[in-house]
Amino acid sequence: MKNRRQPAEPYRIKSVEPIRLLERPERLERIRAANFNLFKVDAADIFIDLLTDSGTGAMSNRQWAALMMGDESYAGAVSFRHFESTVQSIFRKRFVIPCHQGRVAENLVFSTILKKGQFVLNNTHFDTTKGNVLHKGGIPIDLPCAQAKSNDPIPFKGNMDTARLEEFIKEHGPESIAMVMMTVTNNSSGGQPVSLANIHETAEICRRYHLPFFFDAARFAENSYFIKRDEPEYRDKSIREIAGEMFDLCDGVMMSAKKDGLANMGGFIAINDERLYQQVTELMILIEGYVTYGGLAGRDLEVLAVGLEEVLDYDYLDFRIAQTQYFGEKIKEAGLPIIEPTGGHAVFIDAGRFLPHIPAEQFPGQGLAVALYVEGGIRTVEIGSLMFGGVDPLTGKVVNAPRELVRMALPRRVYTNSHLDYIAEVAEQIAEHKQSIPGYRVIKESQFLRHFTCDLAAMAPVAARA
Ligand SMILES: Cc1ncc(COP(=O)(O)O)c(C=O)c1O
Repeated sequence: MKNRRQPAEPYRIKSVEPIRLLERPERLERIRAANFNLFKVDAADIFIDLLTDSGTGAMSNRQWAALMMGDESYAGAVSFRHFESTVQSIFRKRFVIPCHQGRVAENLVFSTILKKGQFVLNNTHFDTTKGNVLHKGGIPIDLPCAQAKSNDPIPFKGNMDTARLEEFIKEHGPESIAMVMMTVTNNSSGGQPVSLANIHETAEICRRYHLPFFFDAARFAENSYFIKRDEPEYRDKSIREIAGEMFDLCDGVMMSAKKDGLANMGGFIAINDERLYQQVTELMILIEGYVTYGGLAGRDLEVLAVGLEEVLDYDYLDFRIAQTQYFGEKIKEAGLPIIEPTGGHAVFIDAGRFLPHIPAEQFPGQGLAVALYVEGGIRTVEIGSLMFGGVDPLTGKVVNAPRELVRMALPRRVYTNSHLDYIAEVAEQIAEHKQSIPGYRVIKESQFLRHFTCDLAAMAPVAARA
């Protein structure tokens, strides 16, 4: 809301990390040397880094202190017990399996549960989840609610389309489905939250058809905050109570703790099924580590035990979500269209609408992302046809993404509103000269996930207005 008094940062800064803004000619030189791919620019040459909110957060003084308490014993470390009891109490599952990040949790679970040719149904799969399902011979199906596509600022656009879920189960039969998943918040659809009403409905359908129901809980606390804020019957519940109600409804949780674990590395699986625990941990010992450390150091487990508690703090979440909303408003005021409402962890700019002179084949999102770096040293990521388009291997035709977006993800507890004001000023300058932003073409690419490593060339001089 435009005139809302923003909550102030509920922390003060005890340790600082200097960041440096290169001169514009140096930024131009760096981006040219990186062949206009921001993944290839050194972090030291970035002023404000909004590439991702994953593993980029700042730890609290309690977490830094906990780091020193790490018990590095191979088996049964005290640090594991701290981590285990914290996860048990928040996620309400008996068995806790640590892993070094979320995609390993996915790999272990799908390697164990999924039979070749089976479906996995999800409100929207995150890329690594989809990749792991495919890798095990499964078929990932996204069933986002109809409102997910609209640009109306309505709450809970991350919901599952439960009518389509039930239709799908009836049409294909429950035996063809390995599991139903709920991703909270729904990262791939803009960090939009899922309501508890929708989670209840989904769980009820899973119960009726005896299907396992799992959460991808990377941003569970942010999702719980949205439930408290926007679902009237939960207004008086605490974040912990809301999270508890969510997780009581499921059979298992996979989590990348690099987000709402407030840690730089970590993840886990939490389940009740003892047989599944045995199967997963057998594989885990082969590929990730012993059952009580799972690829993490004891000190990481201590940090996570503290982070998972801290993330439930209402004041922290209130500021976090308000900061994202504030940032979205500022970007809009600067004249750039965004996806509304703003979700939990990022602001998405609709670069397709902002730069209509650049066709999708020439990646308007990349044009804007490069401009944000050249004009302000800001790193963002294109989420459009560079990331999701390309030559369809079946038809040989070039396909474009449904939307040409630029994601500006906010690391947790890292940037102040003054950094965000600076970005909005840069965005405003860019808006004044947007006609001079060129499109791009790919000159070298890999077979998969090309956006990480491809080389690009500009269709017109990048520094035209300098
Ligand atoms: C919703 C979601 N699930 C899973 C993952 C994968 O987690 P990780 O990067 O820790 O492997 C991510 C990472 O961004 C995510 O956003």
